[in-house]
Amino acid sequence: MKKPKLVISTGAGMSAESGISTFRDSGGLWDKYPVMDVASADGFARNPELVHSFYNTRRHELVKAQPNAGHRGLVELEQWYDTYVITQNVDNLHERAGSEHVLHLHGELMKVRSMKHPERVYELSEGNLDTTVDTRDEYGDAVRPHIVFFQEAVPNIEPAIELASEADVFVVIGTSLAVYPAASLLHYVRRGVPVYYIDPNPAPVPDYVTVLRMPATKGVEELVRLLRP
Ligand code: APR
Repeated sequence: MKKPKLVISTGAGMSAESGISTFRDSGGLWDKYPVMDVASADGFARNPELVHSFYNTRRHELVKAQPNAGHRGLVELEQWYDTYVITQNVDNLHERAGSEHVLHLHGELMKVRSMKHPERVYELSEGNLDTTVDTRDEYGDAVRPHIVFFQEAVPNIEPAIELASEADVFVVIGTSLAVYPAASLLHYVRRGVPVYYIDPNPAPVPDYVTVLRMPATKGVEELVRLLRP
């Protein structure tokens, strides 16, 4: 019997209870760092060393973090739903929690890629988290974070739109819905498909969306209660 398709779109709030800073909450990353200096194509061209060290710092934080009950609750739903996670997050907490299908829209923090041959992507290990402008791959080429900087295209938005348009249930967790094209996914969900939004401080959404005004760990627990057969 084919399982219904559950598509979940997550943002930084999904990882907040794992101790990873969000961007736009007070005290968030964009309060501490000038976003266009550390996370844009122009910023990387201007001062690549600063960008390398920004992502090095975030990798060191990530390896100390663990998936939270929210990540694990989404894995629990895989027994009843064909579950796909589309995440704006560059952390690997969904994968480490055991999610089978994770599509990253904004890249992956634990990966770097060749500047000359972008198809050459390398996974960094816990013992080798840092890169600099002098880091070279095995071909002698410079590498860059495997991150979608502001001003760059979001290559995975097409498959993400396809997933959203096929969803039988759509869930949004922990995102301010401030950044496009990720924020547009909600509008590709077929009419009549149930949509849930878990966020303690939710952005405005259409009234057909069921808002669970709570943190991800509590919200996913409630979601499992609502969605389990
Ligand atoms: N549980 C669930 N949601 C939470 C929690 C929590 N414990 N704590 C905060 N939130 C919510 C906030 O209320 C907010 O709606 O998480 C959201 C965080 O919003 P942002 O910081 O804007 O993060 P996000 O929406 O993921 O940003 C999108 O912007 O800077 C770029 O590339 C970056 O992927 C990022 C994108």
